[in-house]
Amino acid sequence: MNLHSPSKDIFGLAVENYYLTKDQTPILVHHEDFFDDEIPVEYLFRSYDDMPKLEQKALDLCQGSVLDIGCCAGSHSLILKSKGHQVLPIDLSKKCIETCKKRGLEEAKRLNFFDLKSQSFDTLLLLMNGTGIARTLNELEAFFDQLKSLMHKNSQVLIDSSDLIFLFEDEVIENDKSSYYGEMIYRTSYKNQLSDPFPWLYLDFNTLKKEAEKASLECSLIFEDEHYGYLAKLNFT
Ligand SMILES: C[S@@+](CC[C@H](N)C(=O)[O-])C[C@H]1O[C@@H](n2cnc3c(N)ncnc32)[C@H](O)[C@@H]1O
Repeated sequence: MNLHSPSKDIFGLAVENYYLTKDQTPILVHHEDFFDDEIPVEYLFRSYDDMPKLEQKALDLCQGSVLDIGCCAGSHSLILKSKGHQVLPIDLSKKCIETCKKRGLEEAKRLNFFDLKSQSFDTLLLLMNGTGIARTLNELEAFFDQLKSLMHKNSQVLIDSSDLIFLFEDEVIENDKSSYYGEMIYRTSYKNQLSDPFPWLYLDFNTLKKEAEKASLECSLIFEDEHYGYLAKLNFT
């Protein structure tokens, strides 16, 4: 998952094995301060009906050509393509992109989002904690710059995240750029493979809105779930 250092293709291995042999070994997510979390690999192959409301809402709001950023197994792109959208699913993971192609997304490209140039899309879609792709709060400006470079004046960005405040209920939170509580450092593992540590950013809605506005992007709240998760829309003001 980490774009700046070579790491094991944990998501890709799990996705490929599930696609080829229905191997249900989950991906484990490790953080030094919390218990391990599990991502059931079949979740990455979810259908529209199995998606949370937040994702269904995001798919329903997609317009025109769609860039699916961090597409993984391509589940959102497949639904959008079947509805007639032109899609470009991209991911860092070689094996995820190979699997996307096998699933019928021949247009899928192995690409770092930050390296995509000279194209624009009507909708830029980032789901399953899309703000994670920005990595850290300090890198948000570069993230917004890259999003803007792929937008035309009527484009929209649909992005989800969660406010992790619930993890720190009894603690005093310092909310500044040097230590924001949504900045996580994770490792992922699958079978006997362990990734390098990588940063993954969760943003509360107000911080996303404040930072987006600094980058001259309007930010509106589209949907909130019962678990501190939300879907937001960004567009040019
Ligand atoms: C949590 S998964 C989300 C998968 C998918 N969006 C979904 O909802 O099923 C995050 C994905 O983003 C990809 N990713 C992370 N950083 C990326 C980047 N800079 N460019 C492209 N893909 C990236 C990872 O390889 C991984 O497959």
